[in-house]
Amino acid sequence: MKRVAILGATGSIGRQAIEIVTEHPELELCALQSGSTPLEALAAEHAVEHAQIGGDPVRLLERGAPDIVLNAVVGFAGVRATLWALEHGVTLALANKESLVAAGELAVAAHERGGGLLLPVDSEHSALHQCLEGRDRASVAGLVLTASGGPFRGRTRDELADVTAAQALAHPTWRMGPKITVDSATLANKGLELIEAHFLFGLPYERIEVVLQPTSVVHALVRFRDGASLAHLGYPDMRVPIAFALTYPERAATQVAPLDFSQGLVLEFEPPDLETFPLLALARTAGERGGTYPCAFNAANEVAVAAFLEGRLPFLGIAATVEEALAEVAGAPARDLADLTEADREARRLAERAAV
Ligand SMILES: NC(=O)c1ccc[n+]([C@@H]2O[C@H](COP(=O)([O-])OP(=O)(O)OC[C@H]3O[C@@H](n4cnc5c(N)ncnc54)[C@H](OP(=O)(O)O)[C@@H]3O)[C@@H](O)[C@H]2O)c1
Repeated sequence: MKRVAILGATGSIGRQAIEIVTEHPELELCALQSGSTPLEALAAEHAVEHAQIGGDPVRLLERGAPDIVLNAVVGFAGVRATLWALEHGVTLALANKESLVAAGELAVAAHERGGGLLLPVDSEHSALHQCLEGRDRASVAGLVLTASGGPFRGRTRDELADVTAAQALAHPTWRMGPKITVDSATLANKGLELIEAHFLFGLPYERIEVVLQPTSVVHALVRFRDGASLAHLGYPDMRVPIAFALTYPERAATQVAPLDFSQGLVLEFEPPDLETFPLLALARTAGERGGTYPCAFNAANEVAVAAFLEGRLPFLGIAATVEEALAEVAGAPARDLADLTEADREARRLAERAAV
């Protein structure tokens, strides 16, 4: 019996994860957390003793004593839970990419000390983990992250000037929470994933590429030094990587349909348009600078996305706000959580100012 804590339990990933836990008698829910949504009914339905709305997740996790923490919180708010699980050697099923972006260096160090499992739930990183498993790292030439390109793929900057939040939220292939859906439309999501991949797999940025694959069937590829590439294919459905992480290493069955070749399968690839979608290149630069820069990138992006969703900022203003805030932040080493909390606060302040 494995005890599972689900943070962000009321969100898109959290709800799918609860379904998967209930389908597997060897998994048991021990703790739930939301941001502000009441949890009484959910906790009662699943007989979960420990449930908490917002606040510091550490006490909840200590009381719940999980074997697996599924971190499906959105944004920087997920940092404490990620660091706690890694430090304590508790298996971390990580959907909350923002925590690894913001606190990557601390997370890698905590993971080394704790010695537990870190299993990515992001579909691309779950795919990379599977393609890399058991391979000699010296044979790996590079990683390729795929992106659908979002709802605005192929558009020019002029055509993006007046797009609305409703249009940005209409993702062509994935059904997700609002923040990541907007991040997919701007390509900031792929920028966050680039930094996430760097910290998860320890490769330098110049060996991590991004390519558009509009049907989201190829989730990622690993290039090897002999010229071969291994790819991970499947329909876009988050139940696969969530179940993979929660039932690791058994790879339990899911309800997801296998690929149906009789219907045809379109596997086209194209390079991303970095001029129309500048957040991908901004993320790469922030990642390469290191220290608190990735944390600042994430914080400024969170502020800009919230302003866009509230109708205070046009779509193109998201990247402009992040760029302006990043130009002003004073990067510093990320020595501890206090450094990151300060970098996050400062970048939010600069982004709020830039977003008016
Ligand atoms: N959805 C996907 O398919 C997908 C795919 C790959 C990666 N991810 C990543 O998974 C994470 C969750 O995404 P999502 O799409 O599931 O988001 P979502 O639907 O917006 O859900 C977010 C969850 O986080 C909770 N939350 C918000 N602020 C919190 C706080 N301060 N403390 C604790 N909990 C808080 C929310 O609670 P309330 O309901 O109370 O607001 C909700 O349960 C993100 O990092 C995202 O990038 C998602």
